[in-house]
Amino acid sequence: MSTDTADSQSPQSSVVMNEAVQTLRDGGLVAFPTETVYGLGADAKNPEAIKKIFATKGRPSNHPLIVHLAAPDKFDQTQVDWVPILAPWVRDISEDALRLMNAFWPGPLTLVFIKDKSVLNELTGGQDTVAIRAPAHPVAQELLRKFKGGVVAPSANRFGKVSPTSAADVRHEFEGVLDLMILDGGDCEVGIESTIIDLSSGDKAILLRPGVITPGEILAKTGIKVFQRGENQETGEGESLPRVSGGLRAHYAPTTPLRLYAPGRVLDALSEFPDTKSRVAVGVWDSESSLGDDGHPSVCFKEVEVPSDSAAFASRLYRSLRDLDQQDWDLILFPELPAGEEWDGVRDRLQRACFGSGPSSSSHVNN
Ligand code: TXA
Ligand code: MG
Repeated sequence: MSTDTADSQSPQSSVVMNEAVQTLRDGGLVAFPTETVYGLGADAKNPEAIKKIFATKGRPSNHPLIVHLAAPDKFDQTQVDWVPILAPWVRDISEDALRLMNAFWPGPLTLVFIKDKSVLNELTGGQDTVAIRAPAHPVAQELLRKFKGGVVAPSANRFGKVSPTSAADVRHEFEGVLDLMILDGGDCEVGIESTIIDLSSGDKAILLRPGVITPGEILAKTGIKVFQRGENQETGEGESLPRVSGGLRAHYAPTTPLRLYAPGRVLDALSEFPDTKSRVAVGVWDSESSLGDDGHPSVCFKEVEVPSDSAAFASRLYRSLRDLDQQDWDLILFPELPAGEEWDGVRDRLQRACFGSGPSSSSHVNN
């Protein structure tokens, strides 16, 4: 993260930061920026505070939360000793876990461990595992360091909706919630939620949620092979279990219908909507000129450029969905994404967003 960004992401005065820390200590909620998305934070040791998170988000209580921990104040990434930091939360720390933490923490990677027995069932949804992450954003780091404890933080959005990537998004999401304290750390750089790797099922690392850190990058940096869910049958983990709430088919959903179109097939995608949708926003790769002849005489198209670089796409995905959702479109069309694991994180979010989108999206998510 550049100094420039760090400056613009740390406008918090120490007064505001101290107030945020006090709010957490008093069992309140504090929304704060991470490099992925904004989180809705609470003291991980306070069951009542955790219940507030579920109530505020409207999230079922069996969907476990991630515990966020601070990296030491001045760290040289190669020298952080994560063992004492993790010890109060997890039972065993394997060699693989250490290699993953050393390679990617602080950063957009969440690891799932067998939990220490002191970890509250309220935060694990009753499971015997706990998800942990050390976020890299300077504001998150400062909050966690000053709080001196674990902070549970789901994405700061209502359940099933698009995750927030700015303080204004969080404000908009929880407009009716009085007194929600929001730390403003600018726009999130990564833009989609952390990659989640499950290390709790023995010797295999299993991908639970794709993100910008890919299995290929993990293999290259640590030599650890990450398995896809289902590739490891021995876990016996049913795909239907809500271990990963983003694992529901409908998630991250705008209220405007969203669909994907195959290259050159905008009109085919439109045919799904026979009542002639008149206003359609169409995502067009920035590497391509425009839709050209794909237009339709009776439909008003607006072309919206989408980045052909996967990291830039991730960074702007939720921003675009939120912005487009607030404009008066009848339909949003995005291009199908290219093959390749660097696109898997955004592919996952975009597909779920399509499935859950539309005016009744809030009723789909509980299916
Ligand atoms: O980037 C992120 O991870 C963001 C920022 C705020 O840190 N947080 C986030 O939290 O995405 P949330 O609650 O929206 O998603 C956390 C995911 C959920 O899908 C949850 O089911 C999964 O992590 N999870 C949490 N604990 C777990 C566990 N013990 N085993 C498996 N999955 C777990
Ligand atoms: Mg979420």
